[in-house]
Amino acid sequence: MSALSDEVARRRTFAIISHPDAGKTTLTEKLLLFGGAIQLAGTVKGKKASRHATSDWMALEQQRGISVTTSVMQFPYRERIVNLLDTPGHEDFSEDTYRTLTAVDSALMVIDAAKGVEPRTIKLMEVTRLRDTPIVTFVNKLDRESRPSLDLLDEIENVLGLSCAPITWPVGMGRDFKGVYHLLEDRFYLYTGPKDRVSDIETVDGLHAPGLAERLGRPYQTLLEEIELVQMAGTPFDMEQYRQAKLTPVFFGSAISNFGVRELLNGFVDWAPPPQPRESSVRPIKPSDERFSGFVFKIQANMDPKHRDRIAFLRVCSGVYTRGMNLHSVRVGSNVRISNALTFMASDRDVVEQAYPGDIIGLHNHGTISIGDSFTEGEDLVFSGIPNFAPELFRRVVLRDPLKSKQLNKGLDQLCEEGATQVYRPVSNNDIVLGAVGVLQFDVVQYRLKDEYGVDCVFEPAAISTARWVSCPDEKKFREFREKNELRIAADHQGALVYLASSPVNLAMTQERFPDIAFDDTREHS
Ligand code: G4P
Repeated sequence: MSALSDEVARRRTFAIISHPDAGKTTLTEKLLLFGGAIQLAGTVKGKKASRHATSDWMALEQQRGISVTTSVMQFPYRERIVNLLDTPGHEDFSEDTYRTLTAVDSALMVIDAAKGVEPRTIKLMEVTRLRDTPIVTFVNKLDRESRPSLDLLDEIENVLGLSCAPITWPVGMGRDFKGVYHLLEDRFYLYTGPKDRVSDIETVDGLHAPGLAERLGRPYQTLLEEIELVQMAGTPFDMEQYRQAKLTPVFFGSAISNFGVRELLNGFVDWAPPPQPRESSVRPIKPSDERFSGFVFKIQANMDPKHRDRIAFLRVCSGVYTRGMNLHSVRVGSNVRISNALTFMASDRDVVEQAYPGDIIGLHNHGTISIGDSFTEGEDLVFSGIPNFAPELFRRVVLRDPLKSKQLNKGLDQLCEEGATQVYRPVSNNDIVLGAVGVLQFDVVQYRLKDEYGVDCVFEPAAISTARWVSCPDEKKFREFREKNELRIAADHQGALVYLASSPVNLAMTQERFPDIAFDDTREHS
């Protein structure tokens, strides 16, 4: 194998999907701890700041500053190099959260054992379905009173449509949580030491090992009954089905006390796919292709007013990035020399010497890079699958000084290209409507319009509940649809037409009335 194929085979690039408070931050920290990327728990911060985030700029700035450094975390584990991409949650939930999921090869789903499958998880799972991303599941917080494990698996199967193959099974729960039993290894991992110590784990081989019944008491009897059920009626792990995103291996544990985390990480690096080929306008691009290529999935404004640059996050898809190389921006049609790309090792930024497929590099962007941009060594290929997502929150922009309308439009177009918001211009009036999937996006846009473009505006609620990109191959039918719905049609910043629905019912009725029209909830960048 060539050096490039070796490096590709070692990489695992993934993101964590979860509902706020399920334990994503805690688990991230524990994974970094196991990977040796941080020494101390408490390093991955950000949640506290984001939780209290308001439109107060200081809070925003702090939070943004933090999330630049935690956007991508790379760490070695066993023979692998793991890239963990942060998916902004809580109030900083945004389109970035969705788009990050288009840049990974697999995902880790964290579920709170007391709450089960929650709404945000369902949404994020829908996004992973766009690319059939394989999912490993971690059921967290077993140290608290939880719902019965079998019920949780049923819920994952029914609500998310994923078969569950339990890999570990909890021994007890809440105060009686004693460890996990690994079904494939036929081995117990029992926790003996203080709650936050990684090392105090005792292994016992065999489900029926002598002495276990006396030692573990009632939770052991329950475990035996449940394991019998799982072995009779459950789904065995199947690599093929996992890779096709039809089945999820399930681990149980408690992130805060490190229970079950190492077993999860071991299973994850064994099974998660290495960098996968990606569709492009020309052909599928294999990671082992020698020529460099990659795409931008996120742009992060540097909120330090002294440094106006922004960081564009590029996922390497093929070839090797070496420091100082010339990269061809396919959209702009010119070459740029990249001498100072960043990598993100835990909490430090370093200048990258080399990066391989699956890795993320940060490019300094002075306004010339847009979301979805492809970079190559010269070939004109455009990666697909980094779409805009239909927003669910809408605001009407009201300009305080009407003479600033030109600056407003320029600023909005730029912020749109960075993926900070989406802009819609209704065809029947001169309104400007902003769309977002997370409410903090509006605060960021309002601040940046003022700070960077000198435009003072306020946002008003808009009576819109969702947007769909509309199209129809039959021009006559499409015209008729547009004429009948003129008041609800708008153009996005690239001129594509959207239907702005006033309610889910309104959308459903319109779809029913116009069956020939396609209503899409994502749209590729063009
Ligand atoms: P998130 O990023 O998914 O939003 O979740 P985060 O890790 O911040 O965890 C949310 C809360 O759940 C935190 O408590 C955290 O300590 C707790 N938690 C995470 N994992 C476990 C676990 O395995 N068991 C138990 N019992 N709790 C867990 P908090 O009080 O909201 O915040 P903090 O004051 O502890 O930071």
